[in-house]
This record gives sequence, structure tokens and C-alpha cells, in this order.
Amino acid sequence: MTRRKMVAGNWKMHKTLAESVDLAGRVAEGLKDADLDVLVAPTALALAAVGTRLAGSMVLLAAQNIFWEEQGAYTGEVSAPLVRAAGASHVIIGHSERRQYFGESEKTAGLRVAAALAGGLVPILCVGETLAERQKDQTQGVLESQLAGALAGLAANDLGGLILAYEPVWAIGTGVNASAQQANEAHAFIRAWLDYRFDKEVANGTRILYGGSVKPANAAGLLNQSEVDGALVGGASLNAADFLGIIQAV
Ligand code: 13P
Repeated sequence: MTRRKMVAGNWKMHKTLAESVDLAGRVAEGLKDADLDVLVAPTALALAAVGTRLAGSMVLLAAQNIFWEEQGAYTGEVSAPLVRAAGASHVIIGHSERRQYFGESEKTAGLRVAAALAGGLVPILCVGETLAERQKDQTQGVLESQLAGALAGLAANDLGGLILAYEPVWAIGTGVNASAQQANEAHAFIRAWLDYRFDKEVANGTRILYGGSVKPANAAGLLNQSEVDGALVGGASLNAADFLGIIQAV
């Protein structure tokens, strides 16, 4: 099965409203018949305006997080229906920064995945080990428990186009990317786990993106790996030329 490649930009807590709209426009205009999916994830504040700017373009829109309730007295949160109404089709869930700074657990990631699916959003579930875990040879165990926790209770036909992102924590924002071989190995492990937990069709059909210091210069080497179906890009997605350079490397 051929899986369509995806290059996604996670803008994290960067860019004002005006800067977000400007960057989205540059990305949309810079794409020339790209035969892959391109997605951007601005701040929640910029979601609607970026969605308006991207209307009619091929660029997909994601939120960076959602709360699992649909509405209510949850100060500071946004829900699946709210981000969908703002134009998002996808949502990033379980990013390591949310695990590190905001108490995200396997359980809460799972609640968000379920809420995304119920709300018609495609989840982009992030998993990845820390450097200490890799050095202790715990990478596979960590990936397995993050995946099992966040996808608990779901059956193969519940997954709604689920996308996974392997983001080794030691490679995020550090300039030290995983080697192509390290990425491919981790992705192969995740795919084997999908086969064991769901079935072959899910394993073969699920896109697994790599994230962690992807730049135009290293993108081709990482993205040419058989198990790597695209990239989730942080820093280099904040500049249209760099982001387009990564897209061109696919
Ligand atoms: P960097 O590309 O800045 O390392 O960030 C990766 C990331 O966390 C994407 O979600």
C-alpha cells in the first residue's frame, strides 16, 4: 500500500495573528502541484484567520491540542467542535511538550484522541522517548505504553485516518535529529505494534511522521526511509522558505 506523504508544521506558541496569516499565505502560494499533504498548526488564537486565508488552497489546518469535553465551564480550553468550526480538520495530540509542561498522560491523550474522533477531527498522536529512556534501551517499551494508553478501547474501524508522529524528545528543538536509520527502526516498531494491536490494514495504512529537528538539509534522508511517511516540523516550519524546502525534499 502506498501511503500519501505528509509534511506538517507545528507552529507551537509562535506568531501573532497577522504573522500567522502571512506565513500561511506564503506556504499556500509557494506550493506547486505538490503531490503530498501539507498541514499547518497555528495557535488556537490564529486558527480561524489562518483557515480563512487557506480557503481554496491545498493546505490543511490543525489545532495543537483540544480538551475532551465538547463545551462547558473549562476556562482556557478549546474543544473539538470549536476548532472544527474554526476550520481545522486535524489536531495534534500528546505532544511531548504537553507531556512535559502540562501534565499530559497516556490517559488524557486517550481522552483527547477519542474526543477528536467523535468530533470529526483526524488525530495526529505524538509519541517518543527521552534521551535517558533511549540510553536505558527503553525506547520500544515507552512507545508501546504511549500508543496502548492513547488508543485504548479503539477498534480498527474507529481510527478515522489516525496519523502518528514519532518524535524522540531528545531531537525536538535541539538540532540533533534522529538518524534516518534510528527513525526508520522506531517507525517499523510502531507499525509492527499497529499490526499486533489492530490488523495489517491499519499497520500498512497508517501514516507515521517523523518529528525532531527536521530541516531542508536533512529532510530527504529522513523522508526517503521506507517507514517514514512524512515530517512534523517545529522550528523550520516558522519560515516559509525552510518549510517549502522540506516539502520539496519529499
Ligand atoms: P523541531 O522541528 O523544532 O525540532 O520540533 C519538532 C516538533 O516538536 C514538532 O512537533
